[in-house]
Amino acid sequence: METGLRGKTALITGGSSGIGRGIALALAEEGVDLAIASRDPDPAAIADLQARGVRCMAIRADVSVEAEVVAMVATAIAQLGHLDLYVNNAAWTWHQPVTQIDSESWFRTLNTNLSACMWACREVGRQMIARRTGSILIVGSTVRFNPSYRETAYRVSKEGLRMYMQDLAIELAPYGIRVNMVTPGHFQTRMTSSVPKATEAKMLELIPAHRFGQPVEIGYAAALLLSDRLSPYTIGADLVVDGGLTLRPLPLFSQEEVAAMNAQE
Ligand SMILES: NC(=O)c1ccc[n+]([C@@H]2O[C@H](COP(=O)([O-])OP(=O)(O)OC[C@H]3O[C@@H](n4cnc5c(N)ncnc54)[C@H](OP(=O)(O)O)[C@@H]3O)[C@@H](O)[C@H]2O)c1
Repeated sequence: METGLRGKTALITGGSSGIGRGIALALAEEGVDLAIASRDPDPAAIADLQARGVRCMAIRADVSVEAEVVAMVATAIAQLGHLDLYVNNAAWTWHQPVTQIDSESWFRTLNTNLSACMWACREVGRQMIARRTGSILIVGSTVRFNPSYRETAYRVSKEGLRMYMQDLAIELAPYGIRVNMVTPGHFQTRMTSSVPKATEAKMLELIPAHRFGQPVEIGYAAALLLSDRLSPYTIGADLVVDGGLTLRPLPLFSQEEVAAMNAQE
């Protein structure tokens, strides 16, 4: 099925690694011209995207700084002509237990993950309103569904993003602009590289699909939500892509019993 994304332009923050790169790859495959922004965009990832036949440029920006976000959006619009799509993906987490949270890490987390989205969508939104078209996708996290140790600022930022996404969606919808969220479960990226292997093994048992996600699988969900052809009436949605992790069935049966339950001869 045609997504109708060919020839569109997109700005993706954090688009040269992990999940952002998965989104960039899926959009490049659909023929979307790209601006990839982060503090240090990976030249190899940019070249790989260009090799797929689309325009792709790197923009250096620290999204925790308002002036850099404003400049990032202006540069993307200047280089691509306009922005049809904006993907707010860049984020980071500083692991601190509640008695050790320092103000610098707290505000850095909230600025990188949450304020950056508000600054960028304000700038992108003005341009999209003038053009009466556009689609915005915000990357959330399943971490917000249950309390998590040493992740307070990150969880607060991701829940804040969801609330912000809903308000953005209702204010921009009258101008023909759709805003949605994609919410990943566990993906093996730089952000999760410090998770111990033993912990990941336990997580695998909790995931009904019994595997971690591939970043491009978020990319496919992103293409679906960003496409005006495939999702014209989808506004303020939160698409969870987690292999079933957040379904959390009660552990009444062993993995072996579950596997045997519906086995066919
Ligand atoms: N991995 C998971 O299991 C998982 C689960 C749920 C949600 N997520 C979400 O998925 C998104 C991508 O994370 P990831 O897992 O793909 O990790 P990742 O590979 O580490 O990607 C994070 C990206 O954000 C960029 N970034 C970080 N701080 C920045 C800043 N101050 N300014 C500009 N760019 C910045 C990084 O680029 P530079 O270093 O070049 O700045 C990097 O490209 C995040 O929103 C994260 O919360 C991930």
